[in-house]
Amino acid sequence: MSVEAEVEMAWRLVLGSSHLYKRGFESGVGVGESAAFEPKLIIFLGMGGSGIVGDIVSDMMYPIHRHPTYVCKDYTLPVPVDDKTLVIVLSYSGNTAETLTGAAEAYTSGGRLFAITSGGLLDDLAGRHGIPTVKVAKGMEPRFAVPEMVGALIGVLHGLGIAGKLERLFLTAVESLTEYLRGFEKTAEGEPQRISKTLLGRVAVAVGHTHLRSVSYRLKSQLNENAKHPSYVTQLPEAFHNEMESWRPSQHTSYIIFRSSYEPPAISAALNWIVGELESSGQSYSVIRTQSKTYVDEMLKLITLSDLISISLAAAKGVHPLKLSLIPSFRRLLSLDGRLQDLAVRRFGG
Ligand code: F6R
Repeated sequence: MSVEAEVEMAWRLVLGSSHLYKRGFESGVGVGESAAFEPKLIIFLGMGGSGIVGDIVSDMMYPIHRHPTYVCKDYTLPVPVDDKTLVIVLSYSGNTAETLTGAAEAYTSGGRLFAITSGGLLDDLAGRHGIPTVKVAKGMEPRFAVPEMVGALIGVLHGLGIAGKLERLFLTAVESLTEYLRGFEKTAEGEPQRISKTLLGRVAVAVGHTHLRSVSYRLKSQLNENAKHPSYVTQLPEAFHNEMESWRPSQHTSYIIFRSSYEPPAISAALNWIVGELESSGQSYSVIRTQSKTYVDEMLKLITLSDLISISLAAAKGVHPLKLSLIPSFRRLLSLDGRLQDLAVRRFGG
């Protein structure tokens, strides 16, 4: 497929986000309801495009959370697990070594597992060991299945009776996203194209904070994978305790600063300072903000805008947004040529 055809296809997939969020939610609710229990602790387990689903949903939950929640992107679990621990295993392909290894540890420790996947080994294991599973549509690049997986995860939490206000916040935000997406029907000149141009020839730095941490990480990862572009994240307030000492005016970077209508006052002051410094030193930067009714509404819109910026940059650079050349071979290396998947299957009991 040509770059132009891939850009068109990727753009259309993003414009279909609200449908995917809804579809995922509807499938997730039934799975959660069928196995309801009250956990003491929650772990979201997954890597890359599936792992970020955990980041996004824990950012959505953090102002209203009732349970300690961990996002784990590693082979080993961050805390001890027992039968009061809800472990949601997120892997689009169902074959990711780190995720399967963590899932095997959670299973042998007695954790209550749920899976969200399109198939692969995770689906097989879940079928054989009675793990409630949400099946998402097959045939996508995992990072483009994020809306469906986010919807599925919120649906499971709602079905389990532990999502609280998140269900309403999410469904209202999805409605409002449908309207927002209409503004991007035409792929000509708009905000995504304008911002992507500032990144050409420069390293992108996405500045995130509060509930927009996951959103800034999504932008960074989408720029990496879709636009094959060097991109990093600066998280506030932490960056003011280390990174700031190294900030010098540079023509080699372009900052993308996420502003929110829900910024804590000290974060607003820090962001105002950063914008002032970038402006007075003549550096390249863009500020991203959107009108929203709630912080969840804001997150969904900014995730969508981030996706579109990455696709616009791929178009401007003439690179294929859907094709990956290095990640697939690193997946093999990180699984020790499949030995770690075999081990995980054995730990599940065959
Ligand atoms: C590919 C992508 C990757 C994968 C990651 C984990 O589109 O975004 O970051 O998501 O390699 O694979 P899965 O999601 O299949 O567990």
